[in-house]
Amino acid sequence: MYIDRNAKFYGNAMLYGVCRLSGNVVCVGNMIVWKCCMRWKYGMLYVCSVAMQCCMLYVLGMLNILIEMPSPPPLKVAVVGFGNFGQFIAQGLRRQGHIVLATSRSDYSEYCNSHGMHFFRSMDEMCEEQPDIILICSSILSTETVVRSIPFRKLKADTIFADVLSVKQFPRNLFLEVLPPEFGVVCTHPMFGPESGKNGWNELPFVYEEVRISEGEQAHKCAQFLRIFEDEGCRMVGMSCEEHDRHAAGSQFITHTIGRILSHLNLESTPINTKGYETLLHLTENTVSDSFDLYYGLFMYNVNATEQIENLNRAFETVKQKLFGRLHDLLRKQIVERVPIQGKATKLPKKLNPKTLLSSTK
Ligand SMILES: NC(=O)c1ccc[n+]([C@@H]2O[C@H](COP(=O)([O-])OP(=O)(O)OC[C@H]3O[C@@H](n4cnc5c(N)ncnc54)[C@H](OP(=O)(O)O)[C@@H]3O)[C@@H](O)[C@H]2O)c1
Repeated sequence: MYIDRNAKFYGNAMLYGVCRLSGNVVCVGNMIVWKCCMRWKYGMLYVCSVAMQCCMLYVLGMLNILIEMPSPPPLKVAVVGFGNFGQFIAQGLRRQGHIVLATSRSDYSEYCNSHGMHFFRSMDEMCEEQPDIILICSSILSTETVVRSIPFRKLKADTIFADVLSVKQFPRNLFLEVLPPEFGVVCTHPMFGPESGKNGWNELPFVYEEVRISEGEQAHKCAQFLRIFEDEGCRMVGMSCEEHDRHAAGSQFITHTIGRILSHLNLESTPINTKGYETLLHLTENTVSDSFDLYYGLFMYNVNATEQIENLNRAFETVKQKLFGRLHDLLRKQIVERVPIQGKATKLPKKLNPKTLLSSTK
């Protein structure tokens, strides 16, 4: 029978209660016995009370041994796609004591050998190891080809498929379409990467949806898998894939887009950087350290991304209109004032050339 962490918790809480109660009983008993000893000077009575305490502690110790349940065996997690993010997530799996198998288009056997992981050159060989969890960490663009190339027949019937893709509706629909119905499906998105998570994962958001998990062993394995991130300190956010994609387009995709735009300005550090400018430099650096495939995936595989690009474009136009609108007002005033009003003639300043200004706002 599988006994999970909650059972252990309740067991320990019960034991604590018993200890408190028995402690009080022993204390009260002791006081009574001590009073008797003082009154009748029966030394033997005091000795008996001490022996009684020892017995009680022994029984409690035995109880504790019974209640301390063994923790479940480590999971065998197969990371498919062992690039930048695959390696980063695998380090967390190892830290939590799980077995990491890996396969990828490129050869990462040296890295795996030196990090206590097992690399397989072929998907077939890896699946023969019968992992508990298949964790898809390939690029968004290659995921469909990668998933379809997995030999499902070699896997256990209760295998769980999980992914870390930065878009969520796409892998969920793909899994539901191509996987055998008995396989579990849990879609996740760690909202951090090798850069933002380099000093630990504490308080970093981890989005997940248990899409299709059956009761019993599969549910326990899924809980054990999610606990890896919980135990690393992540802020666990249960959310539907649709909701994730809506939020991510308005936040992550916008962030990446601004970073990409800024990278085309070739911004450089100056001796008088403001805090705001430092933030922009940091954002640019962070964004371009991710592959363009990732960014293109955020756009192509999130139904809300196009709307966000259009919103961004409109917002930029609005800001430009505000700036140039003011300039036009000033210019118009000057043009009008050039015409002698109430017998006055105003000279147009040299710097404001109406032709250039009008053409720049077209
Ligand atoms: N980077 C992040 O901060 C971050 C955060 C959260 C989630 N994610 C997600 O994690 C996944 C991996 O991201 P990433 O940063 O490592 O960069 P990526 O460029 O999105 O993906 C690189 C991975 O995809 C594999 N790949 C690329 N093209 C392939 C193809 N044609 N066939 C088979 N495999 C192919 C690469 O394999 P090889 O290395 O063997 O070539 C590598 O493992 C993505 O789905 C991304 O959305 C990334």
